[in-house]
Amino acid sequence: MISPLLRGRTLSFLRWPETVDDHPAWRYEEDGGLLIRDGRIAAAGTYAEVEKKADEGAKKIDHRPHLLLPGFIDAHAHFPQMQVIASHGAELLDWLNTYTFPEETKFQNAQHGRRIARLFLDEVVRHGTTTVAAYCSVHRESAEAFFAESHDRNMLNIAGKVMMDRNAPEGVLDTAQSAYDDSKALIADWHGKGRQHYAITPRFAITSSHEQLEMAGALCREYPDLHMQTHLSENHAEIAFTLQLHPKARDYTDVYEHYGLLGRKSLFGHCIHLSEREADSLSDSGSVVVFCPTSNLFLGSGLFDYQRYRTRDKALRIAAATDVGGGTNYSMLRTMDEGYKVIALNGEKLNPFQSFWQLTRGNAEALSVVERIGTLDQGSDADIIVLDARATPAMRLRMETADTLAEELFMLQTLGDDRAVREVYVAGRAAKSDMAV
Ligand code: GUN
Ligand code: FE
Repeated sequence: MISPLLRGRTLSFLRWPETVDDHPAWRYEEDGGLLIRDGRIAAAGTYAEVEKKADEGAKKIDHRPHLLLPGFIDAHAHFPQMQVIASHGAELLDWLNTYTFPEETKFQNAQHGRRIARLFLDEVVRHGTTTVAAYCSVHRESAEAFFAESHDRNMLNIAGKVMMDRNAPEGVLDTAQSAYDDSKALIADWHGKGRQHYAITPRFAITSSHEQLEMAGALCREYPDLHMQTHLSENHAEIAFTLQLHPKARDYTDVYEHYGLLGRKSLFGHCIHLSEREADSLSDSGSVVVFCPTSNLFLGSGLFDYQRYRTRDKALRIAAATDVGGGTNYSMLRTMDEGYKVIALNGEKLNPFQSFWQLTRGNAEALSVVERIGTLDQGSDADIIVLDARATPAMRLRMETADTLAEELFMLQTLGDDRAVREVYVAGRAAKSDMAV
């Protein structure tokens, strides 16, 4: 097996960068090298150092002057919503009822699920995302299709069959028992197979009966290492309806708490309108709140207070995500551009190193997979992207006046999209140039 030796400007984070001058927070090599063996990074450092460790037959790939970064991680997206994206004129509950639930009924058809799973993973990879925490539809076949496609590509993905047994059309409902049985069967078939991770996925409190939330809690207890993903506190009408369904709950978070769904592997999409008690409880349990800026703007859900959550006494663990198809773009660059604006509307700023930390190491830490992905450290899986800051005429022109790495990164975030992603390596294999488009 040939081992690729990549050359380029490598950037990888060690921790949260406090300021743009906080150099110890990242490792940047102007002439960097990455030696890949068996899908992992066998050596990283200056090109001169790394080249010495390469075998005679190593395949040298020169990506200069481009940047080499860990692949982006998308912490929340719905693969069955590729044909929901860009649906006009509704807030969350109407949007679900009008567009999303009818679309997801199509995933009864296994062939449709396989087609969309393939196109979804093509699309995320084209945009430089090498890991996604994905919601499938309620149908077991949709999760089968997603995992089969992900495994074929040797991607590290996290996914689960959605559990939902009420307040939605018949074609997207399971039962408490069938959700439990199907989730167990999928866990047995896919969790830990290659790079696949299963996530227990009750859609949200509105669409799961008490009995089904009990079942979700039972699965979390049976499989404490698995992720759990759901939605929380996205929209005012959603919160009101949830509290109507759970009159004894102290608040929305308490509904999930009651069923034992909080914890370090638990990912809560949105979390925009949390009370202090809810935020404390999420923090105490080590739960993760997932920032989905394009979705929150598109559906008019509200402004996630990133800096307050990050710096409060009981700080929250934060991930960032597209939330396609409530979200409007597959690109994590476009996502953090909108994220920057949401944070600005809350009177704060995120510096470009912080943004790129979030998209790589930050999301890997939030998803508890930093041992495998999110950095360019030796021993990590070789999920690597190549970013070109001069990908379009407007970017090329702007780069004429960018003097620092911070400016280049901020320009990539503000103007960049899939065109700035020149190559994507998934476990060491060039996956973007390989793709028939
Ligand atoms: N809440 C429950 N389901 C969904 C969904 O599919 N998208 C979003 N944005 N919120 C949800
Ligand atoms: Fe979502």
